[in-house]
Amino acid sequence: NMKGAIFDLDGVIVDTAKYHFLAWKSLANQLGFEFTETDNERLKGVSRVESLRILLEIGGIEADERTFNEMAESKNKEYVASIAQLQPEEILPGAKTYLQQLRSQGIKIALGSASKNAEFILSKLEIADLFDAVIDGNKVAKAKPDPEVFISASSALGLDPKDCVVFEDAEAGVQAGKASGSKVVGIGSPEILSEADLVVPGLAALVK
Ligand code: G6P
Ligand code: MG
Repeated sequence: NMKGAIFDLDGVIVDTAKYHFLAWKSLANQLGFEFTETDNERLKGVSRVESLRILLEIGGIEADERTFNEMAESKNKEYVASIAQLQPEEILPGAKTYLQQLRSQGIKIALGSASKNAEFILSKLEIADLFDAVIDGNKVAKAKPDPEVFISASSALGLDPKDCVVFEDAEAGVQAGKASGSKVVGIGSPEILSEADLVVPGLAALVK
C-alpha cells in the first residue's frame, strides 16, 4: 500500500534529456568528436561528473582535474541557459494531474533526482509546491544506482522505503529504487527497464 511517491525529474516529469544531450553534444564537438543519442542513453540518471567521465571515455580524451571541472562547468552553463527557457507547458503529459491526484489521496510526494538544477526546474515549471520534500544532486553523495537518494527521500517524508513507490525512466534509477527497498514504476520501454515492478509509457497512463 503506497504511502509515499518519489519521482525522478528528468524524463519522468519533464523531458530535459534533450537539453542535456544538446549541451553534451556541443562539448563533444568542441573537443572534436561526435556524440550520438545512443551514447546519450548512458548518461540518463547519471550525475554530471560521471556523465563527463563517460563522455570523455567515448571521445578517448584524458583531462586533468582543472580541465575536467572547466568542461563540466561549460556544459552546465549551456544547459542552464536552455532550461531557463522552460515553460510550465513542458511538463510531460499527465504528470501534474497525477501528482495532484496522489496529493488528494493523502499520499506524500518527494523528488529524488541526481540533478543539481532540480529546484530551478521545479520553479520554472511552477510545480515546486506539489512536493513535500526535494532530494537532489546537492544533497546526496552517492549517485544512482546507489539507493542513497531514494532512502533520503523516504526518510524526508517520514516513511519507510517499503511504503514508497519510485517513478524512474533510467536504468540506473530503477536499480537505485529497487536497492532502496521501494517498489519501482518504470517510465519508458519495458526492454530497458526490465527490473521495474511495472512499466508504463508515461505518468498519463496512471491517471484515473
Ligand atoms: C539527471 C539526468 C542526468 C543528469 C543529472 C545531473 O539525473 O537524468 O542526465 O546528468 O541529472 O544533472 P545536473 O543538472 O546536475 O547536471
Ligand atoms: Mg531520469
